[in-house]
Amino acid sequence: MFVPALELADVWPSDDILRAVPRRFLPPTRLGLLVYPVVAAASAILAVVSLQGPQTIDLGRIFFWTVITFALAALPVRLPGGVVAHTTTAPLIAAVFDSGLPNPVAVCWIAFLGTLELRDLRRELPFWGTLYNRSAYVLSAFAAYIGLQATHDAVLPGDPLGTIAQLAISGIAFSFVNLILAVGLASLRTGTPFGRVWSLSVSNVFPGLVALVPLGWLMAEIGVKVGLWAAFLFLVPLYLARYSFSKYAETRELFFGTVSALSQAIDAKDGFTRGHADRVSRIAGAISRELGLSEKEVEQIELAGLLHDIGKIGVEDRILMKPQRLDSEEQELMRRHPIYGASILEPAAALRPLVPVILHHHENYDGSGYPQGLKGDDIPLGSRIIIVADAYEAMTSDRIYRKAIGHDRAMEQLNRFKSVQFDPKIVRALSRLVEVKGADAFEVSDLPPINYETLAELRRRLAREPVIRDAHAG
Ligand SMILES: [Fe+2]
Repeated sequence: MFVPALELADVWPSDDILRAVPRRFLPPTRLGLLVYPVVAAASAILAVVSLQGPQTIDLGRIFFWTVITFALAALPVRLPGGVVAHTTTAPLIAAVFDSGLPNPVAVCWIAFLGTLELRDLRRELPFWGTLYNRSAYVLSAFAAYIGLQATHDAVLPGDPLGTIAQLAISGIAFSFVNLILAVGLASLRTGTPFGRVWSLSVSNVFPGLVALVPLGWLMAEIGVKVGLWAAFLFLVPLYLARYSFSKYAETRELFFGTVSALSQAIDAKDGFTRGHADRVSRIAGAISRELGLSEKEVEQIELAGLLHDIGKIGVEDRILMKPQRLDSEEQELMRRHPIYGASILEPAAALRPLVPVILHHHENYDGSGYPQGLKGDDIPLGSRIIIVADAYEAMTSDRIYRKAIGHDRAMEQLNRFKSVQFDPKIVRALSRLVEVKGADAFEVSDLPPINYETLAELRRRLAREPVIRDAHAG
């Protein structure tokens, strides 16, 4: 059962565009296909339930749940993948189960008004984004209400199993609609596959989100049997749940930031391959996706792409930065870098799955590679992908000892050495990818440009202008 309260995080790709383009009232055409039907359906539901509204409306009770929802929506957590999560699932489920509320009109309006966030009030999102998020909550809450109603007659009052089943059905209905709409629009907006957004944003916070449904039901029960003031106390565990989501997001950011810094450090040490690891990672990720691997595996291979040459830290600079061809003894030392890389990553539990991929990223398909001379399918799939991505990237970017040979000749070389150095099915996958996306497909970067000096450049500059003085010297 998946029960997050998710919504679209950003509607604009960046602050620059926000400044450059006037705030749009209507969504871009390709997003409109999802935005218009969702807003229309939610508006129709709100109109119908309001017109058919019950005789008596307990405004105080509606106000209470709206305020609780609003208090929780005020602290959203930005998850990777372009979605925002908060713990409003609990009060919305509570509003569905609260027998004192005139439903469905109450729950629809609570979902519409209570989920308003400060960024909506500050108009940080365009109007259609705010409206889409509110509409998605109305549809999710209404689905939960329908789930409860559909099972209403089948469950006797006080029947524990029946109540649990009702809770499960209602929770699934809420989350199904909520997730499809939040992840769907984030995926459409960023052009990222649905599965990728799911894996980035939802899969890891899933247990915490599931727990919100029974908590919501308990809030409703306590609110009815003890009093609303007691339901208010639930804000404490809900803020704690929110804290765990934010810790997840921070830890993940820290992890990827560290990996990225490490990979940039290797590029900087290498001197003439700035941005190489980043491009290898993108190409390897795209090939993995083309081969139909799961998003989890794609992520591992992208990480391995970023860190594949980390073992070069252990190779002496005189070899690493030598502009001429290496002699055989130097080559032998250079060939140890996959072993160094594996031993560097081995102690880090989160990076351990990458160890075999990195250890074997110079194994050739016919068994003539190093360090172990593995052959064919005995070589880990990730390593077979990285060797192709690495070779393609090296041939299509400038190096100190030669210019890029261009896409067509690079593909020619890959085809020439398939079954010898490269796995033929991976070369075919790369070829298909480039046919569909064009030769510039991997040049597009989501990362901010990095303007750093390579260590070699820094050394040269400091040799020319020794500007760094003792800070205390005045
Ligand atoms: Fe390497």
